[in-house]
Amino acid sequence: MTAQVIPETVTPEAVQGAARMLEVRVRRGEVFQTFAVARRPNQTVLDVVTEIQREQDPTLAYRFACRVGMCGSCGMTVNGRPRWTCRTRVAEAATGDALVLEPLRNLPVVKDLAVDMEPFFEKWRRAHGYFEPGEAPPEDFAPVRPDEPERRKADAGIECINCGVCYAACDVVAWNPDYLGPAALNRAWTLVNDVRDRGQEARLAAVAGDAGCHSCHSHMSCTEHCPKALSPTFAIAGLKRETGRAALRRLWRKA
Ligand code: SF4
Ligand code: SF4
Ligand code: FES
Repeated sequence: MTAQVIPETVTPEAVQGAARMLEVRVRRGEVFQTFAVARRPNQTVLDVVTEIQREQDPTLAYRFACRVGMCGSCGMTVNGRPRWTCRTRVAEAATGDALVLEPLRNLPVVKDLAVDMEPFFEKWRRAHGYFEPGEAPPEDFAPVRPDEPERRKADAGIECINCGVCYAACDVVAWNPDYLGPAALNRAWTLVNDVRDRGQEARLAAVAGDAGCHSCHSHMSCTEHCPKALSPTFAIAGLKRETGRAALRRLWRKA
């Protein structure tokens, strides 16, 4: 083995990091390709993928934008677990010195680690995950106090960054590709609690169907994996209650 030459300017941490190598297995279609990457202090999984793409194989496809946990575009499966990779340190995700990287589950693969998010966002549309101002919205801003119960319920789910990690973690999506999934339903719940919105009846009908909130098995995988510590399971439980109340209201109107 040839001796490693280390420049005098590197820190002791870097020396320690450089002495260890990561074995990174990357799924590329039906096969895995193995790369060796030096371990470095505070290295993230996204750093590793970027180093492979820049230093070893420029054809490797993956997606990222902000690198600070805001854009939601860097989701991948890391050692079997869906994660945001820009905020996941190698030290917490690797098994020893081994990383296995795969695309997010439950979405079509475009190439290598990049998935097509269109089906994910199509379900947001199907769940009416957009604000409905109504025919004649008031001209003034609606006063909504931060301590109002509805505002608090909406707040609990509003920080979603659309990363798809919960969607990849959900077994019901895997069994039933039509299922709206945790992120779209969580978004619908924030809007159900938006007192300014005028599209509630249609939204509740949209999430009450066969592929909607009542298909959720409440096994909390989405909640366990969400990198923003949101609880789509809680939001879906709220939708189950509200869709039930809406059904009763319809019955009373008919009676
Ligand atoms: S709680 Fe519901 S939405 Fe969340 S992972 Fe389980 S089945 Fe999917
Ligand atoms: S609910 Fe959490 S895991 Fe799901 S898309 Fe939003 S931020 Fe990502
Ligand atoms: S790159 Fe934006 S959230 Fe990871």
